[in-house]
This record gives sequence, structure tokens and C-alpha cells, in this order.
Amino acid sequence: MSKTVTARAHTNIALVKYWGKKDDELIIPMNSSLSLTLDHFYTDTTVTFDSQLVADHFTLDGQSTPVSAKITRVIDRVRTLAGITTPARIDSINHVPNMAGLASSASAFAALALAASQAAGLDLSLRDVSRLARRGSGSATRSVYGGFVEWQMGHDDTDSYAVPYLEHPDWDIHVLAVVVNSAPKAISSTAGMKRVVSTSPFYPAWVEQTAKDMVTIKQAITAHDFTQLGETAEANAMKMHALNMAALPPFSYFSPDTIQILDAIAELRRQGYECYATIDAGPNVKILCQAATKDHIINYIQGLLPTSQIYSATVGPGATICE
Ligand code: DP6
Repeated sequence: MSKTVTARAHTNIALVKYWGKKDDELIIPMNSSLSLTLDHFYTDTTVTFDSQLVADHFTLDGQSTPVSAKITRVIDRVRTLAGITTPARIDSINHVPNMAGLASSASAFAALALAASQAAGLDLSLRDVSRLARRGSGSATRSVYGGFVEWQMGHDDTDSYAVPYLEHPDWDIHVLAVVVNSAPKAISSTAGMKRVVSTSPFYPAWVEQTAKDMVTIKQAITAHDFTQLGETAEANAMKMHALNMAALPPFSYFSPDTIQILDAIAELRRQGYECYATIDAGPNVKILCQAATKDHIINYIQGLLPTSQIYSATVGPGATICE
């Protein structure tokens, strides 16, 4: 039996989004992306390679759960690298609020990659853990590091990985996750981005524009320019969602509440409360803001949508082994 290892990884929010793959199996993206790792929301995953098992076994929050193809991809890769065939026991506890609209797959696959590689006796560099996490879910590539993280798209398995851009930003930045609808999404990220790459006439423009957004957002981070960061992130998210509406058949993750929050954010800005929106593959809106205006923004949005739930986060750390 191998050793038992538990790893913790936090989720992240993309400020320049990953939206489209050039290799579906290895998850090589069409564009580089940049995210902020968040505190509070994380996954703890424990892995043991156990020769007593007949097949891989997975529990999520204590419940026995089918082993997904994505989990198998990561575990198979670990077995290949370690030269073993032993089945794995994987126990995951998600501390990402149910349906907070924050990608739990990002923290889940980063934690899995770190725990499984160590449990198999591999001592991978963080870069190699990032490459391994990428095989589970693209956004997990970035959750290996804390702070602002860049996923350099690369060309193939060897050079597509995340690098820390600013790991310990001494910067007042908050993310409010506004949860408006907890219904499961109709189109997964994987399916949505695939449709867009093959049918959206604006896709080449997205790839071109995103390269420019990467340059602008890095300048904003280096200069600690919250306005430039927020404007770039919001515009990038809107471009991603415009691709979806232009796909065949068209689709949108927005709900009426999503639009209402976008209008509220524009109104808050008019009133002098600086804040910006970003939205992933779902109706929930994440609001970027700073400490001085955070409480006012929470109260304003809560007043507008009394049934919504609002979670507040700030900069979080990279993946670690839990002793
Ligand atoms: C909109 O990482 O969930 O959140 O690689 O197919 O598992 P797969 O997709 P996933 O997609 C995340 C898309 C996004 C943007 C982002 O996080 O960069």
C-alpha cells in the first residue's frame, strides 16, 4: 500500500478567461488566461494507492460517487509516471459553497494532482503538478499557485502550464460571488467552449483580443491599477459571453438576475462605488471591488435581489500538502 496524502487547493476566478481548447484530451487551450486564486473556497483531497481495491474508488463529501473520466485521466497519468497499476482511493471534501458559481473543479483537480502524485511516490515540481491538474480541468492548471496566476497556453503537454504572476499581491482586492440561481447549468463549460470554437464567427477575434487583454491586465497588476484591472476583466468576460450568443445554436449563461446585477454594477459605478463584473459558465456574477466600498455594494445588491446569496473572498494561497 502507498502512503496516504492529503492536499488542499483553492479555487480561482479568471480575469482573462480560458474559453476554447485546441486539444480536448490534453486540454491545451486556444488562449492564455489569468486568474486570482481565492481564499475561503477550497478542496481537500486524500489519495491512497491501495492494492486491496479492485478499482478506483471516489467519495465526494463522504458520499460514494462514480469516478469521472476526468478523474481517471489524472490518476492514469500518475500511474504511468510512477510505473504502477494500483487502484486509488480518493476522498474529496469540497469547501466551495454549493453552487456558489465558483469552479469547484479548479480546486478539486489541483488538489487531486498534488495528492495523487505524492501518494504515488512522485515528487513533481509545481510546474509538473500544474500540467497534471490541467488534464482534469483547464481552470485547475492555475489553482496550483496563489495570488495572480497566468496559464501560458503553450503548444502541447510539455509547455502548457501555469506560472505565478504575482503570488503575494499586497493589494486591496475583493471578490463578491453573487449566487442568483442554484439550478445546474444546462451547458457545461466543456460543451460550451467546444461549440464556440467550431461555430462562433467571432472566435478568431476572441483569440486576438485575449492576447491583448493579457498584456493590459498584467500591466494593471504590476501598477496596482484597480480601474484598469476591473475594466479589462469585465470587458473580457463580456467578449466571452458574446461568443456564446453568436454560436450555432446560440446559448447564454445569463439569467434575468444576471442582467439586473450588471445594470446595478453600472449604476454603482455612476454613484462613485467602483466595482466590476466577471461571469463564468453560469448565471452568477462575481464582483471585483475594494475594502472601502465592499459593504455598500453587498447591501445594494442584497436589497435589489433579496433571495440572492453573497459570498466574499480575497486573495488565496497555492496548493499545499496537509500534514
Ligand atoms: C469560464 O476549466 O471548467 O471558468 O477544461 O473543460 O474542464 P474544462 O473547463 P473548465 O472551464 C473554465 C471556463 C471558465 C473560464 C476560466 O476559468 O478561465
